[in-house]
Amino acid sequence: MPHHQSAPRATKSVPVRESVSESAYQPHADMTHHQSALRINHTGVHQNKRYNQFNNKMTTFSPKIREMKLPSQLQLPSSQFQPPLKPFLRWAGGKSRITGLLAAYTPKTYNRYWEPFLGSAAMFFYLHPEKAFLSDNNSALVDCYNQVRDNPEKIYEKLKEHTKKNSEEHYYSVRDLYNKSKPSISQSARFIYLNKTNFNGIFRVNTKGEYNVPYGHKKSLALPSYENFLEISDLLKKADIRHQPFENIENNNLIKENDFIYFDPPYPPLTATAYFTHYTSERFLWADQERVAELANELAEKGCHVMISNSDVEQIRKLYRGWNFHELPVVRWIAANGKRHKVKEVIITSYKVLQGKEK
Ligand SMILES: C[S@@+](CC[C@H](N)C(=O)[O-])C[C@H]1O[C@@H](n2cnc3c(N)ncnc32)[C@H](O)[C@@H]1O
Repeated sequence: MPHHQSAPRATKSVPVRESVSESAYQPHADMTHHQSALRINHTGVHQNKRYNQFNNKMTTFSPKIREMKLPSQLQLPSSQFQPPLKPFLRWAGGKSRITGLLAAYTPKTYNRYWEPFLGSAAMFFYLHPEKAFLSDNNSALVDCYNQVRDNPEKIYEKLKEHTKKNSEEHYYSVRDLYNKSKPSISQSARFIYLNKTNFNGIFRVNTKGEYNVPYGHKKSLALPSYENFLEISDLLKKADIRHQPFENIENNNLIKENDFIYFDPPYPPLTATAYFTHYTSERFLWADQERVAELANELAEKGCHVMISNSDVEQIRKLYRGWNFHELPVVRWIAANGKRHKVKEVIITSYKVLQGKEK
């Protein structure tokens, strides 16, 4: 049982929004990163060959994520389809390997998209929203997105130089320079280089705020193609990207009815000592989980579509009592107290989701 800072306190439950027809929430098709994998059947429903093949086998993902059977075929009106982009960063807790699965639970239509725990922005890159508000507490990460949006050519050029020089020695000299430098185009290129070549793609800083992740001995940076990088930059141009704690998204009352908010907070640890991956220099405490739930409740009551990712543990189920829970066929193995613990993931929505059935 996860240890938390304090016992979960009951939050107001959110009534399921009866006023919205269920058909408005038919799930999206699962999409891979290749549009070619999609075809449309006689009922106008996308079918995904890769998806169906995938459905028939167990796949083990690094870091220790296993996908089990996926739900049956999901639907997406063809007009909404845009080829998903892949995140250009590696990120602990990143959703890039399961975005297709998560997209099945997003509302079919919504106005603006909000993602206040941005990380590698996997869902944003997958969904291609027309207007987005993205934010994260990690200032270096947010600087990096703003630089990629505004200066993709210059950053890509610098990344190619780092690629040529990539070695353990180069990594540590870039890391030293990174810890002495201020935000700039070069600094964001360093951030991406370090992220691509470090150990496990984690972001960790010491008590002095110095980035201290060791070299990961990766042979290649696995950079997106130049065209892809420009597409990423173009998509980021549709977003307002801010460095802020998640609560600030509701400052100035900017979120409106029919907006869609996806919360992907750091998950509660299994034990108090299990904060092995600090996303920022601050820990994400149980009180923070409670504040996410409070905000989620307020937004749902305002008429927004709210979706939350979290661990499928009792405390989280209690925290979101009255919401719609969708168990994901995804298991994470988390090391705590010298043992490996299996934790399932869950999607929690303020709206009902219908599963498309193959006829
Ligand atoms: C689980 S990760 C999000 C992963 C992301 N969905 C992806 O696909 O890569 C959680 C993110 O929340 C950020 N974060 C942690 N505490 C925060 C806070 N109090 N306010 C806003 N962001 C926070 C971290 O910097 C991290 O990027």
